[in-house]
Amino acid sequence: MITLSVIKADTGGFVGHSAVHPRLVAEARREIERAKSSGLLVDGAVESCGDDISLIMTHTYGPEAGLIHSFAWDTFQATTHIAKDLGLYGAGQDLLSDAFSGNLRGMGPGYAELEFEERPSEPVLCFLADKTEPGAWNLPLYKMFADPSNTAGLVIDEKMHAGFAFEVFDLYEDRRIVFDCPADLYDMLMYIGAPARYVVHGVRSKTLGTTAAATSTQRLSLIAGKYVGKDDPVMIVRCQSGLPAVGEALEPFAFAYSVAGCMRGSHHAPFMPVPVGQAHPSRFDGPPRVVALGFQIKDGRLVGPRDMFDDPAFDGARRQANEVMDYLRRHGPFEPHRLPLEDLEYTTMASLTKRLAHRWTPITTEVATPAGL
Ligand code: 13P
Ligand code: 13P
Ligand code: MG
Ligand code: MG
Ligand code: MG
Ligand code: MG
Repeated sequence: MITLSVIKADTGGFVGHSAVHPRLVAEARREIERAKSSGLLVDGAVESCGDDISLIMTHTYGPEAGLIHSFAWDTFQATTHIAKDLGLYGAGQDLLSDAFSGNLRGMGPGYAELEFEERPSEPVLCFLADKTEPGAWNLPLYKMFADPSNTAGLVIDEKMHAGFAFEVFDLYEDRRIVFDCPADLYDMLMYIGAPARYVVHGVRSKTLGTTAAATSTQRLSLIAGKYVGKDDPVMIVRCQSGLPAVGEALEPFAFAYSVAGCMRGSHHAPFMPVPVGQAHPSRFDGPPRVVALGFQIKDGRLVGPRDMFDDPAFDGARRQANEVMDYLRRHGPFEPHRLPLEDLEYTTMASLTKRLAHRWTPITTEVATPAGL
């Protein structure tokens, strides 16, 4: 069995929250090389989306392994050190704890991990996002694994026809449920259509009995109890031979659907699929970006990456994202551009409630004009 772990953190933005400085990437690559020579990792790659750096690693320790997570934590400490030296913005932003204990759960960095028996040919896509939340993967996962209008294989591939099981987390109540699709599809959509709270954590093939997809499901604001930046999640999708074809796994991103998390984590904006060189959200700290890195895994080796959205076939989605961004921006501070109050992590509402408490009166009483107004 091999494990593919994608572990990510924002350890400092260059400039503002728009990108990772090349020195941080170089440092992480040095660490990965060291971990390969020491035998901890079979292979590894370092990539980024916006101001988030991702360690893409293969190893034999399984998911949530202390050795792998502590390696990632130490690497993010090292990149934070450089970020502080360069005065990068939000140095160490996603490292919410002072000390590592056991694994990364509840510590800030996000991780998606899949353990599987490697097939003779193992095509895998690693999706990295910036300026959004983990529920942003709900819509594409539904399309890839449960929507026959997206995925032809659900209808015409003998090994996909029985469907897929979706594991969904309720992030507000810390509980999980498994939906058996297609039978449970309409039940599931009632939940995952609300992506701030219900997040698809993983998908399994019912026919192959194997894992097919995994996401990072951490919500930083729920860990920290306040806004500390957006989660900027990652996702792994295995493809072909009874799983969605690579093109079926990419197809949902040909539509620039709206996600939460742009500008101070507080705005809906279109999700723009881009090549790695364009994954630097600048306009209104957005629009939110997604990159797709394709690998063939052979004996644990990461053959790749291929930059999958570096394809003019996604120009339409990029154009659509720009049009939708113009449209939403014109709402200024109004919903649905700004998030509804209950989802707003970055807010003046608590202090306003206190400051204005004495000026609110029941509608049925005479309004006393405050002195000076
Ligand atoms: P296999 O994944 O079974 O090779 O077929 C799907 C395909 O080739 C996609 O076009
Ligand atoms: P990041 O989570 O990418 O740091 O974004 C924070 C933010 O507030 C951008 O406007
Ligand atoms: Mg940042
Ligand atoms: Mg970010
Ligand atoms: Mg973030
Ligand atoms: Mg084929």
